[in-house]
Amino acid sequence: MTPRRLLVTSALPYANGAIHLGHLVEYIQTDIWVRFMRMQGHEVHYVGADDTHGTPVMLRAHAEGLTPKALIDRVWHEHKRDFDAFAVSFDHYYTTDSPENESLCAEVYQQLQKNNLIATRSVEQFFDPVKQMFLPDRYIKGTCPKCNASDQYGDCCEVCGATYGPTELKNAYSSISGAAPVRKASEHYFFKLSDPRCEVFLREFTQNADCLQTEAANKMKEWLGESGEAKLSDWDISRDAPYFGFAIPGTDGQKFFYVWLDAPVGYFGSFLNYVKKQATQGQSIDADSFLRPGHTTELIHFIGKDILYFHALFWPAMLKNAGFRTPTKIYAHGFLMVNGEKMSKSRGTFITAESYHQQGLNAEWLRYYYAAKLNATLEDIDLNLDDFVARVNSDLVGKYINIASRASGFIHKYFAGKIQDPQQSTASAQTLLRHLKAAQSEIAQHYEEREFGKAIRQIMELADGVNKYFDEAKPWALAKAGQDSLGPLHEVCSTALEAFRVLTLYLAPVLPRLAQSVSQFLKVSCTQWHLIDLPIAQQRNLDEPILPYQHLMTRIEAQQVSALVNVNKENLKPTPPSTAQTSVTATTPNPKNKPPLSPPTEAPLIGPSPTASISIEDFSKIELRVARIAAAESVTGADKLLKLSLDLGPLGTRQVFAGIKSAYDPSQLVGKLTVCVANLAPRKMKFGLSEAMVLAASGEGPGLFLLSPDAGAEPGMKIK
Ligand code: 2FM
Ligand code: ZN
Repeated sequence: MTPRRLLVTSALPYANGAIHLGHLVEYIQTDIWVRFMRMQGHEVHYVGADDTHGTPVMLRAHAEGLTPKALIDRVWHEHKRDFDAFAVSFDHYYTTDSPENESLCAEVYQQLQKNNLIATRSVEQFFDPVKQMFLPDRYIKGTCPKCNASDQYGDCCEVCGATYGPTELKNAYSSISGAAPVRKASEHYFFKLSDPRCEVFLREFTQNADCLQTEAANKMKEWLGESGEAKLSDWDISRDAPYFGFAIPGTDGQKFFYVWLDAPVGYFGSFLNYVKKQATQGQSIDADSFLRPGHTTELIHFIGKDILYFHALFWPAMLKNAGFRTPTKIYAHGFLMVNGEKMSKSRGTFITAESYHQQGLNAEWLRYYYAAKLNATLEDIDLNLDDFVARVNSDLVGKYINIASRASGFIHKYFAGKIQDPQQSTASAQTLLRHLKAAQSEIAQHYEEREFGKAIRQIMELADGVNKYFDEAKPWALAKAGQDSLGPLHEVCSTALEAFRVLTLYLAPVLPRLAQSVSQFLKVSCTQWHLIDLPIAQQRNLDEPILPYQHLMTRIEAQQVSALVNVNKENLKPTPPSTAQTSVTATTPNPKNKPPLSPPTEAPLIGPSPTASISIEDFSKIELRVARIAAAESVTGADKLLKLSLDLGPLGTRQVFAGIKSAYDPSQLVGKLTVCVANLAPRKMKFGLSEAMVLAASGEGPGLFLLSPDAGAEPGMKIK
């Protein structure tokens, strides 16, 4: 087999938000595929980067009192930590805010210009007269023109679901400063996608190049229309200052590349930086053979279906006309649902990677569960939390890990940790092992085709077969039966461990850490596919005992999952859709106007830095509610705290730890009405979870005074 040479990417996450379980569907999917291809002996370079530019990053940095560079630096470390925690094996993780990316973007732009594919024209947009900046649609709010709901975004109403343009909003205001936006024109730069050269190329690329999944190719056909229908509009690639991004050459720092231009180029920027780094370590990679046309290397992008438009149209058209190679494959996947619904902060199912890790859950449980659910289509995948617990415990631990724990116990107790050569085994043992090893090409094919669910099903069926063999041999009875049965006992347990080695190899792309531990335990490598046919006996001296069995993997406790959901619970009013869960998907194209994706708005809409005044929008983010203190008690071991149970009427009850013990006797408090912040993220304290905050006044001197509403207020009432 000639090794394939692959440059593989996952979509670049925005540098203004945390990695969550929705993101991880893609990184885990790519990583499993990458690890499998590496195991097959292919040359794989898997690169990633943070997507750092654009208005949301700029505004978030401002709100945090940071420069954009300081913010993206911090977030880079957070993202890297999360990817490492989930064993995502990037060869290089970089940033789009890099010199490599800047010069590649300039090259792309200048080549497009040379090919007469850049046009300029005047565009009228909303402008914030206070902040002196143009406003992306998501930063304009106002009253819905259809149902008159207040505080709706410039593109769609969250109350009635209507979609419209920002100019149609009534009483529009900038959500950054609160000022009424004005219309203002400025010159914009466009990539002439409507040029027949682009259309002809894209028709060929999306329909004949075998680059897209059928469903995606069909979607592209719809977006491109019939030949000559000219459905594609030119693409606006510039933004006016102030903007965090790369200045467009020749514009005196007044115009910047729109973040969606420099983001995909960032794949190449990351790769070039990696190539440089490798060179310093004596590893030479011919970058051009991956980035320029005319080579046999492959460029493979894993993405979510919501960003197909960018990857299957804009990006290849840019590459083609700027002298670069085009993608070989674009593999799109669906969104993550949790318990059958969109991830939700109020339900606690918008789970961050960090919280998963911090709560002590094993990353490989999630990798396994996702693998079991993933296939090569664009369908959404559902993380059902009960099913997650059940499958990990019954399949992964109950079927697979159990083989090692049961067999190795006997091997240590009766055979000093030594296994025997399966080639000296009886026919039934040999048949079992042959059957196991014969599955390798089918399993390999499932992995390669990204049908991970099929691979996992097949592996678990094989594990069932091993357990059946083991149970039917009744090793516990053989152990009791005396000296004569030790031979058969040795054979059964050695066969089971040999089978366990093969199963581990099959699972290694999904469970890389476990495969490492098993390699140490059995003292043979369980990470190289070509070793499947080579029994332990042919890889090392069997006089060497296996290691004593230590828990390779524990079961999940259901409480661990409920605790995880609790720490992710935020009592928020509905937020704009997040990046990984964009409301507009590949099924609702809108190619004439804009891509089927809102502009990058992962950051909450935010105002000036915390020391300055805040907008009404900022204030409205704090959900103040009337609460009745239903119970109050001292907390053993805490001098200052009282534990309160707050009744919030229709919102239920909340537990709060409040530092008011010095001022109040718990018995005086019961029944009292007070004011609480109801949407504060729950905080895990030494004494338990604090799920809200009560408000109290204090001055320089002693004294602490709980706020309370006038008579007539009811628990749960909103305070504004
Ligand atoms: O949708 C997103 O999260 C983007 N940050 C993905 C960018 S992928 C590539 F184009 F950089
Ligand atoms: Zn409405």
